[in-house]
Amino acid sequence: MSDTLPRIVVLATGGTIAGASGNPGSSAHYQAATVPVGTLLQAVPTLARVARVEAEQVAQIDSKDMTFALWSTLAARIAHWSAQPDVAGIVITHGTDTLEETAMFLHLTQPCPVPVVLTAAMRPSTSLSADGPLNLLDAVRVAAHADARGKGVLVVINQQIHAARDAAKAHTSAVNAFVSASCGPLGFVQDDYVRFARAPLPAVAHLPVPSDWPLVEIVASYAAPSRFMVDALVAAGVRGIVVAAAGNGSVHEVLGGALADAAMEEVAVVRASRTGAGHVALPASARAVVGGFPSALDHNPYKARVLLMLLLAADPSLGADPARLQARLAAY
Ligand code: SIN
Repeated sequence: MSDTLPRIVVLATGGTIAGASGNPGSSAHYQAATVPVGTLLQAVPTLARVARVEAEQVAQIDSKDMTFALWSTLAARIAHWSAQPDVAGIVITHGTDTLEETAMFLHLTQPCPVPVVLTAAMRPSTSLSADGPLNLLDAVRVAAHADARGKGVLVVINQQIHAARDAAKAHTSAVNAFVSASCGPLGFVQDDYVRFARAPLPAVAHLPVPSDWPLVEIVASYAAPSRFMVDALVAAGVRGIVVAAAGNGSVHEVLGGALADAAMEEVAVVRASRTGAGHVALPASARAVVGGFPSALDHNPYKARVLLMLLLAADPSLGADPARLQARLAAY
């Protein structure tokens, strides 16, 4: 390993990339988050030609069990490592199931003086044709690449580079499960060739990592819903509700009635789309925002929830002011 190679730090959190099964023929039945990061790195000897890689096992979880505490720890470890003068980039290994939420959290909170790249795998490390080793190598290649600087948090998987803001899991098992459905990936990586075809949206004014996370939940609009869940959430003291609305943001009248009552209690209600791609049209006028519910624009319900939690943590009064909330959502 040459001293002239860039120094890259891998923060490992678990997931299928660290998964193992007694049956190499199975890619569906395995235990996620069991293989230590050192073993994952040893499985990719080519890494030593790309970077001086060191690793920290920050957690070992199935990402379905992600917590606010682990998000805060990740933010602190990114701040720690990116402040070291010779660290050129940071790679985070993560489960695919909630990667899009962690990516959104980091995108919104981390200034990223060095590239921060999330990666993952759809098949466990013991599987035939495991995708983790190449994804890890590609993530390190991108993190070490000069063109990745200033592009914020990235997701590298299946040879594609996505903006953390846009990347979402859209398939249960395929290795090309991740998409940037509304505007496409930023670029690709093939061997040593890293190519950014477009820039991410301009950098955002980063939001603080909350010490106290407001209660924000997601409800969905579908045929013949009841208002029970919304009423129960309001009774429980919810501060924000993201509605996974149909199509271009439409909400069933029964659910809409319950959400309007919640909004009267200063609960921040935001409409995202359950379709998986596209923008929810902005209300036609500021007056319409006040009478209706703000749009999450192109954020899916899970990403919109992360944004709404951070916005409400920074400014709890937004629930009482839908027009200002709409303006804040549109800034991200
Ligand atoms: C997880 O999200 O931790 C398990 C599933 C995966 O990584 O694909």
